[in-house]
Amino acid sequence: MTSELMDAAAAGTWRLGDRVVNRMGFGTMRLTANPDTSVAIRVLRRAVELGVDHFDTAAFYCSPGGIIDVGPGPVRYATELIRAALGSYRHRVLLATKVGPMLLPDGRWSAADSPELLRGQVVENLRRLGVEALDLVNLRITRNVAVPLAERFGALAEMRSEGLIRHLGLSNAALGDLNEAERIAPVAGVQNAYSLGVRGDEELLRVCGERGIAFVPFFAIAGARREAGVALPSDPDLRREAEVLRVAARHGVSEHQVRLAWTLHQGPHVLAIPGTGDVAHLEQNVAAAALRLSETDLADLGRPLTPDDASE
Ligand SMILES: NC(=O)c1ccc[n+]([C@@H]2O[C@H](COP(=O)([O-])OP(=O)(O)OC[C@H]3O[C@@H](n4cnc5c(N)ncnc54)[C@H](OP(=O)(O)O)[C@@H]3O)[C@@H](O)[C@H]2O)c1
Repeated sequence: MTSELMDAAAAGTWRLGDRVVNRMGFGTMRLTANPDTSVAIRVLRRAVELGVDHFDTAAFYCSPGGIIDVGPGPVRYATELIRAALGSYRHRVLLATKVGPMLLPDGRWSAADSPELLRGQVVENLRRLGVEALDLVNLRITRNVAVPLAERFGALAEMRSEGLIRHLGLSNAALGDLNEAERIAPVAGVQNAYSLGVRGDEELLRVCGERGIAFVPFFAIAGARREAGVALPSDPDLRREAEVLRVAARHGVSEHQVRLAWTLHQGPHVLAIPGTGDVAHLEQNVAAAALRLSETDLADLGRPLTPDDASE
């Protein structure tokens, strides 16, 4: 796809909380992988130039030690890179962050499962992003914790009433979680793992649409490989690869662009947040906002899986 098509607005907009954002957004989890932080800053600024106005982050997106644990060097935080890169542009974009998972000083993961720990995470996000209020905070739901969801979401709702948070969302959520949370406070978005190869949330996606809630899938490109990132052509995980490649060839685009376009074709309330630490990849991903899939493409991509498909 050519450079004039690189416009995050090309897939239209959605109202997320009180802000209208382009449906093509950006996920910042991959930004800390490169010890040269000037690259991440370039990626973020280029994203803004291309019209991206919805960024997803978390205070625990950091390296080394965080989810994408690529050393070496002093710890780099995605939130602080955003603060450094966006400066005065910060008010033009919506910053979504998430709380729940907790990175302990010894590198192990735990859950911020009490109102006090969640407040600590909100305060950490405010400090690292350098803002007075967080635009959107997703509670990433951890199962098997002692404190009920209602109490955890309720703690965030209280911080919303205090003005520390503008809007609330959920991540890793089931429909029952959404129903429970909505009894406490409005839910602006649901962020779950969902992609061409990793399905299962169709009902939740549909219900979000009916209720005017954004559905924000993550791992649209990485699929079942999740944090491990994009799969290699030889990877047995690549279920649907033949169809994806066929559709990509039809349009003269990459398979990653097809995966992103498929995501955006799941409904007007579905937002994409592809993550990358590479400017060229960012440009390709934003260009996918302009890719229109035909009924034939969607039928090819959506065919029922067969037992022969490897597990993606
Ligand atoms: N709520 C949650 O629990 C949760 C969990 C995970 C992630 N997230 C959010 O979702 C966002 C998206 O997830 P993600 O970043 O892991 O996955 P993704 O967007 O599905 O894929 C990222 C992977 O694909 C590669 N990639 C991206 N664009 C490419 C392109 N055009 N060509 C070739 N390779 C490309 C990246 O490597 P390069 O860096 O080399 O491009 C990386 O390996 C995250 O950044 C984060 O903000 C939320």
